[in-house]
Amino acid sequence: MWTVGLCVVALVTIFITHWIYKWKNPKSNGVLPPGSMGLPFIGETLQLLMPNKSLDLHPFIKNRIQRHGPVFSTNLVGRPMIISADPQLNNFIFNQEGRAVELWYLDSFQKLFNLEGENRPNAVGHIHKYVRGVYLNLFGVESLRTKLLTEIEKTVRSNLRSWSSKGTLDAKHATSKMVAVLAAKYLFGYDAQAEGSSEDIADTIDGFVQGLLSFPLNIPGTRFHKCMKDKDKLEKMINDKLKERISSPEKGQGDFLDQAVKDLNTDFFLTETFVVSVTMGALFATVESISTSVGLAFKFFAEHPWVVEDLQAEHDALLSKRENKDSPLTWDEYKSMTRTMHFINEVLRLGNVFPGILRRALKDIPHNGYTIPAGWTIMVVTSTLQINPKVFEDPLSFNPRRWKDIDQDTQSKNFMPFGGGTRQCAGAELAKAFFATFIHVLISEYKWTKVKGGNVSRTPMLRFDDGILINISKKNK
Ligand code: HEM
Repeated sequence: MWTVGLCVVALVTIFITHWIYKWKNPKSNGVLPPGSMGLPFIGETLQLLMPNKSLDLHPFIKNRIQRHGPVFSTNLVGRPMIISADPQLNNFIFNQEGRAVELWYLDSFQKLFNLEGENRPNAVGHIHKYVRGVYLNLFGVESLRTKLLTEIEKTVRSNLRSWSSKGTLDAKHATSKMVAVLAAKYLFGYDAQAEGSSEDIADTIDGFVQGLLSFPLNIPGTRFHKCMKDKDKLEKMINDKLKERISSPEKGQGDFLDQAVKDLNTDFFLTETFVVSVTMGALFATVESISTSVGLAFKFFAEHPWVVEDLQAEHDALLSKRENKDSPLTWDEYKSMTRTMHFINEVLRLGNVFPGILRRALKDIPHNGYTIPAGWTIMVVTSTLQINPKVFEDPLSFNPRRWKDIDQDTQSKNFMPFGGGTRQCAGAELAKAFFATFIHVLISEYKWTKVKGGNVSRTPMLRFDDGILINISKKNK
């Protein structure tokens, strides 16, 4: 009996030891980049999720770059992964979409957005071109110039007016709501006034977006549980709108659904589920990125009052050239806001809202004597460039004036907040125009004080620990 027991224990020990050995030494057709696979099942996930209370690169990445160099291997959430902060490799990856690499999201994101099977967004060629084309058409320069800029200004004006009557509020949270209502209008024709309260949809979208970034524990009372409920509510709302639009296309609003309904009849790949998923994805992309950036703007305003003075001078000069001070912001005026653009660049440089861009290797990729194995996930980190002291002197200090001396070529090689290659952000122009318009109205017409908060941590997404609470009121003219 004892002998059998000992044999079983020995066999189990051998099996576990062999399994751990295989975990630590994954198969590869060449030499893997240096690094560690961490603990069985979770890899090095816990180290990555450790909050870092600074705008600097997350220590998980910083320490490993110091130890192993700019390309290293690891395991995150049970997935073998290569992290690259090497500009050459990053450019190669950006330009190999559909050949050596494909777009990839975390498994939990794929499930949440129904992006599996036929809905996979990493389809190259026709589907990607189609979705990108629709976005650029709706939110690109031409649309901004001819109508969106004015719409954005109206939205910002009415929101700031309402903020000023509310006492203390959280700037990031309030921006999330403002952007959510705007995005819902241009994506699926949600008319906040006609449909009752704008608070409702804003809360649902905000709950969905915030929950996506929380720990995925789906039990009542958790943020993630609320996120799932908000997701179902949103999907149903978008689905209902889509069905309504399919049966009465003449009720079209020139939004994303309008285009999708036209194309549902002609493009064989387009399904109703796919349209809803793409709409949900765009809500997330828009709301989180813009609200975090605006939250950071208030943080930097409070920490560097001279920045507000610099911006004030630019917007005073802009208004002094106008015949009628109350006329809407023009495209030429928007394009003339040099200091505002420098400010936005600096917020994006240090904010680094998307800490890593994910791809999957479709085949073995050789790099500097190492091999990135087919099937592995690759995380492209461009933020190391953005805090490179050789390009950005004293890189962790917030200084919009530095952009005066940075030429276009240096900028394009060292500043990639919107990614690169064929998947570069389709909402970049919209994001910049929104941010600049917000600053224009804020600086020209309002004053504010920071009441509390503004401390940030990276986990690795940027978060405000205790919000960014402000009190805002109209200036006396
Ligand atoms: C500060 C604001 C924003 C930042 C920093 C940002 C950043 C990024 C980055 C880094 C990517 C590349 C992702 C990848 O390669 O996997 C991306 C893609 C994308 N973004 Fe943004 N984004 C912002 C705002 C927006 C907005 C407002 C929209 C709304 C339309 C948007 C829509 C998209 C879309 C559709 C893609 C995918 C493009 C494609 O696959 O061709 N983004 N964004």
